[in-house]
Amino acid sequence: MPLIKIPKGWRLPESEVTPEDVYMNRRKFLKALGFSGLGAWSLFAGCVERSSEAEAQESGLKAVRRSIPEPSPPYPVSRNPEFKVQRPITTEDVAASYNNFYEFTTDKDEVWKLAEKFKTRPWEIEVTGHVHKKRTFDMDDLIKMFPLEERVYRFRCVEAWAMVVPWTGFPFKNFIEEVQPTPDAKYVRMVSFHRPDQAMGQRMQGGYPWPYYEGLTMDEATNELTLMVTGIYGHALPNQHGAPVRLITPWKYGYKSIKSIVKIEFVSEQPPTFWNDLAPNEYGFFSNVNPNVPHPRWSQATERIIDTDERVPTLLYNGYEEYVAHLYG
Ligand code: MTE
Repeated sequence: MPLIKIPKGWRLPESEVTPEDVYMNRRKFLKALGFSGLGAWSLFAGCVERSSEAEAQESGLKAVRRSIPEPSPPYPVSRNPEFKVQRPITTEDVAASYNNFYEFTTDKDEVWKLAEKFKTRPWEIEVTGHVHKKRTFDMDDLIKMFPLEERVYRFRCVEAWAMVVPWTGFPFKNFIEEVQPTPDAKYVRMVSFHRPDQAMGQRMQGGYPWPYYEGLTMDEATNELTLMVTGIYGHALPNQHGAPVRLITPWKYGYKSIKSIVKIEFVSEQPPTFWNDLAPNEYGFFSNVNPNVPHPRWSQATERIIDTDERVPTLLYNGYEEYVAHLYG
C-alpha cells in the first residue's frame, strides 16, 4: 500500500507557539533584514555583524523586488475612493514575501522564490455550468473587458495575521453579468491550475486534493465587494499573489480568496471546497471573519499586522459589516 502523506491544516500562528519575547526579538531582527523569515539563516542570527546585516537587508530586498513587476499599461489605475481603510497600507516588500500558496510550498517566506518562474501567459479561464454564454476567456482579452479600479481593502488570514493592500481589478458581478447565469445557478465554483511540473508543492505534497478549489453563493459572488483581481500596488500581480487573476472577498478569511484561477463553474448545489474537504471541523464553506468564533486551535479575537507586528482587535466581517451582514440574516 502506498504511503499516504496526511496534509496538515493551517499551522498555528507563529506567535502562539513561540514565547512572546523570543518571537518579538526574532521578528525584529528579521525585519531589520527586510524579511519576515530567512529559513535556516535566521538560526545564526547571533553571528551576524552589523555591516553584513545591512548588506543582507539590501540584497534581501533587492531579491524580493526582482519578483515584483514594474507598472506598465493598464497599471496603475484610479483608486475608488469609496474603499478606504483607517490603517496604513502594508509595506509591499513584506506582503510580497509572506504568502500562502500551497501549490508552491507551505513555507510563507519561500513562496515568492519558488513561484518566480511560474508561467502565467498564455492563460485561459474557462466558464461553464449554468450560464447562457459558456466560453473560454484569454487573460489578455479579459483584462480589457471591464474597467479596472484600485481598492484598498483589509485582508485577514485565518491564521490571525492581517494586512491592508491596494488591489486592482473589477467587480466579479460585472463578469457574472457578462456570462449570463441561468436561474439554476445558485453557487459559483472556482478552480486553480494544476501544473506539478512548475509548482513544486503540487509535485511534492501529493496528499492535497489538487487543484485548489473554492466556492461562493451567487449572492456573495455578486456582492459589491467581491473583486476579480489582476494587480496589486499599482502593477500586475506578481506570481506569489496569484497571477494572473485571483479573487478577493475581504470579509472572509483569506483562503476563500482563490489565486490563479483557470475555471469558473456555475452550479446548483453548494460546491465542496479545498480546506473544508481537508478539515471540515476547522474550515467552513462560509468562513466569514468573526472575532467571536475561535478557530478550534486558536483565538480569532485579535490579529497581527504583518509589517508592524502590532496586535489589534479583529473586526466582525473584517470591518465590512455594512456591505455583507444582510447576506447572513
Ligand atoms: N489560492 C490558491 N490557489 N492556493 C493557496 O494556497 N491560499 C489562500 C489564498 N488563496 C491559497 C490561495 C490563503 S490561506 C491566503 S491567506 C491567501 O491566498 C494569501 O494571499 P497572499 O499570499 O496574496 O497574501
